[in-house]
Amino acid sequence: MELPFAEPYKMKMVESIRKSSRKEREEWIKTARYNLFNLKSEQVFIDLITDSGTGAMSDKQWSEMMLGDESYAGASSYYKLKNAIKEILGFDYFLPTHQGRAAENVLFSTMIEAGDIVPGNSHFDTTKGHIEFRNATAVDCTISEAFDTTVEHPFKGNIDLEKLEYVLKSHPVERIPLIIVTVTCNSSGGQPVSMQNLREVYSLAKKYVVPVFFDSARFAENAYFIKMREPGYATKSIREIVAEMFSYSDGMTMSSKKDAIVNMGGFIGFREETLWKKAQTFNIMFEGFITYGGMSGRDMNALAQGLYEGTEFDYLDSRIKQVAYLGQQLRSYDIPVQMPFGGHAIFVDAKRFLPKIPKEQFPAQTLAVELYLEGGVRGVEIGALLADRDPVTRENRYPKLELLRLAIPRRVYTNNHMNYVAVALGNVYERRNKIHGGVKIINEAPIMRHFTIELERI
Ligand SMILES: Cc1ncc(COP(=O)(O)O)c(C=O)c1O
Repeated sequence: MELPFAEPYKMKMVESIRKSSRKEREEWIKTARYNLFNLKSEQVFIDLITDSGTGAMSDKQWSEMMLGDESYAGASSYYKLKNAIKEILGFDYFLPTHQGRAAENVLFSTMIEAGDIVPGNSHFDTTKGHIEFRNATAVDCTISEAFDTTVEHPFKGNIDLEKLEYVLKSHPVERIPLIIVTVTCNSSGGQPVSMQNLREVYSLAKKYVVPVFFDSARFAENAYFIKMREPGYATKSIREIVAEMFSYSDGMTMSSKKDAIVNMGGFIGFREETLWKKAQTFNIMFEGFITYGGMSGRDMNALAQGLYEGTEFDYLDSRIKQVAYLGQQLRSYDIPVQMPFGGHAIFVDAKRFLPKIPKEQFPAQTLAVELYLEGGVRGVEIGALLADRDPVTRENRYPKLELLRLAIPRRVYTNNHMNYVAVALGNVYERRNKIHGGVKIINEAPIMRHFTIELERI
């Protein structure tokens, strides 16, 4: 018999979490204005709101924290991180930032101007937010298979080369400062991009002389999928695959809170010295001096160590199989989920789960609220609330997919927790026909509204 997967680590410290009653949760979610971001963490039993910054660091990472060099300039921690980035990702130049969106802020301040066009694959919300904040436009060129949750495609994060070429052809090259390839693609369901697609996008970009940057938050999970699914890569190591992936890019932004398994941190990698130098000014303005940029020395040390741990096959294998385990449990209740399962999360198709809730009543948010009420499990809406309003017409944007994302923190929960989540959502599925009203907006911010939005139950 083939041996089942098991985590390549054991636990040395635990943190208590508390169950609550349905009555308590009804009160808490009402006070939180039906926005799960407003809940206190102690009001949540299993927290799947994000896999970002919520992972458990290893004993080696904690030891690295003690070795952090807190010198303002030229700290040894900076050089440790610089070496790890060079060794694993291949970039000679980098700037530390406090998290991924800060990397976007610094890079886009350097590269994007009003009126620019930035093609990519389902840009993440902060990425899109930073583009639109500069009065530029993000154009989604993801393959259409990504928008049908029932289609089994191994690389649903892929960019449609025809769509991309159309964008590149129809605008002057000076208006396209960069192409952003998100690996894996969070907004379309944690779906990977194939090596072939990365190679082809890069070669198309070279033809039009446009730089390619990777939004790399989950680059290691993407490499795992390439190894498991793409012909020719089964015998290559994760690090070899990662090195090839980044050879098809001119730079990268990184939210280290995901695949580098730290609680805070980010950076920008550059192939080219000139752009790195240009970006330094913005890094100093927004983040800090170029050798710490928003991170303490101890954080850079833990991050460097995390880059090595996050690219180990056994770790990735158990991590991604745990995500798939939750997916299989949900499927056993016939719950509609994005197929195939993503790298960091299971995405529940809320339109198919709650077909009677109209899109104007935000089915994915409604489902998130119902799951919380059922079992104290916190997921997050990836749907119309997140998609925000059109910056020009101010109308709600209704994306093709209305998803409830159940993101699994790294090295944190056991499969018993996954079973609990599956039963809780299974119970909601069983009573889905009794859920009649969704939610309506009573207060929202002009941009990135989903974090602070206030809602009412219909
Ligand atoms: C693909 C992607 N890019 C960028 C970010 C932003 O990173 P951060 O949360 O560190 O600012 C995220 C965060 O979830 C993400 O998933």
